[in-house]
Amino acid sequence: METVELAELIKNRRSIRAWEDKPVPEELLLQAVELATWAPNGANAQLWYFYIVQDRNDIKAVADAAQAGRDVMTSWPEMAQFGGFPRPVSPPPGTSAPSPPRRMPLGDAPAMILVGAKKRENPMDKVLAERAKVDEKAAEMLQWSSILNPRIQSVSAGIAYLLLVLHQMGLGATWMTGPLAQSKGDVEKILKVPDGMDIIALIPVGYPADNPTGQRRPVSEVCEVMK
Ligand SMILES: Cc1cc2nc3c(=O)[nH]c(=O)nc-3n(C[C@H](O)[C@H](O)[C@H](O)COP(=O)(O)O)c2cc1C
Repeated sequence: METVELAELIKNRRSIRAWEDKPVPEELLLQAVELATWAPNGANAQLWYFYIVQDRNDIKAVADAAQAGRDVMTSWPEMAQFGGFPRPVSPPPGTSAPSPPRRMPLGDAPAMILVGAKKRENPMDKVLAERAKVDEKAAEMLQWSSILNPRIQSVSAGIAYLLLVLHQMGLGATWMTGPLAQSKGDVEKILKVPDGMDIIALIPVGYPADNPTGQRRPVSEVCEVMK
């Protein structure tokens, strides 16, 4: 594959939030997940786990749980005080006005992939937690370690691969954490997720029914060549 072809694939992938009413072949979803597991990941521990949901009722149950959590939060006075749910950082192309808060299109998705991250005890964390009680440097390292979070970084690498493969297959998807922020425990109950796992992302998938344009900052703003 030429770099130019890869660049085209990468740049044309967009978060898709509207889908055709058309089922997604299970083999495609399985193949995309299999390819996602080839992502780099910490110590090759492969802590990811993927729940492919296709049953309409199950998708609706997840969507309803997410909406219920969102409704609870919306009812809080603090939401009005601090500006409500986040909006996209950049305005839509050709406008200067911020776009309206995004609709949660989850219930319309023909399929959904929920991504789990297995919990794993790291002896280094135990060392740092114990030592941090008596040692400032260890306390600082403990804080760094929580920011680095290789478990979440690793599973995220898998999700990035997954989205790119789905796009290459002609499917549209969106990596979502927002809906889980208000419903993680409820969604885990619906999926019967075992104790040793956290659901960290929710990805509705289907054949795209919209064609959003992408925007990125120029590389000069986000990259520095150290000399
Ligand atoms: C960690 C993460 C969480 C995200 N959560 C949401 C979400 O909750 N809802 C949503 O509509 N999009 C969500 N997105 C998608 C981003 O909004 C999207 O990737 C970004 O606006 C860039 O657009 P693009 O993917 O089309 O290039 C999330 C993306 C990432 C990586």
